[in-house]
Amino acid sequence: MKEVTNFKSCLKPVPDVLVSCRGLNGENNALAVEYAGNCSYDPPMVMVGIVPSRYSYNMIKESGVFVVNLVSEELREKYAYLGSHSRRDENKLEVIDMKVGEGVKVNAPVLLDCPVSIECKVVDSILTGSHEMFIGKVEYIHAKDELIKEDGSVDYSKINFLKFR
Ligand SMILES: Cc1cc2nc3c(=O)[nH]c(=O)nc-3n(C[C@H](O)[C@H](O)[C@H](O)COP(=O)(O)O)c2cc1C
Repeated sequence: MKEVTNFKSCLKPVPDVLVSCRGLNGENNALAVEYAGNCSYDPPMVMVGIVPSRYSYNMIKESGVFVVNLVSEELREKYAYLGSHSRRDENKLEVIDMKVGEGVKVNAPVLLDCPVSIECKVVDSILTGSHEMFIGKVEYIHAKDELIKEDGSVDYSKINFLKFR
């Protein structure tokens, strides 16, 4: 074993999620995020890391809510688009024809093409360095009918998760 001297994001594999959000002016948006993880199961919480220069950053900072949408392989092209274009320049959700629904508990868009969407309210955030980690308390979870088991949980084994890179 030798020391690794060249590294940035060293924890792998990463989840590939789409974080959707809404500005105070009503604008909808979503961006690709791989800085994401569970951070509590009681109460259920997740965290997402957003670089302050992203257009979405102020939307989440100001609204205090976001939605984490899990992504399947068939959404690869749309994921790449949302991860390489900014709402600063265009309404990218409309450009790529992403179907959008309304949050039940939060005022933010839900991406209807995604198998699971997790509505969150920001309870804290930490500016770690390059990213600000937003801690979101889970308020409501949507899942496609065929993914919901008898006990009300999600059968994640049925999702062909995107592994972007
Ligand atoms: C695979 C992938 C993972 C990404 N992960 C993150 C991330 O964790 N945090 C982040 O702020 N941006 C991340 N990005 C970059 C944003 O998705 C990208 O800059 C996006 O265009 C920002 O959109 P916005 O300006 O409309 O908010 C990622 C991009 C890709 C392609």
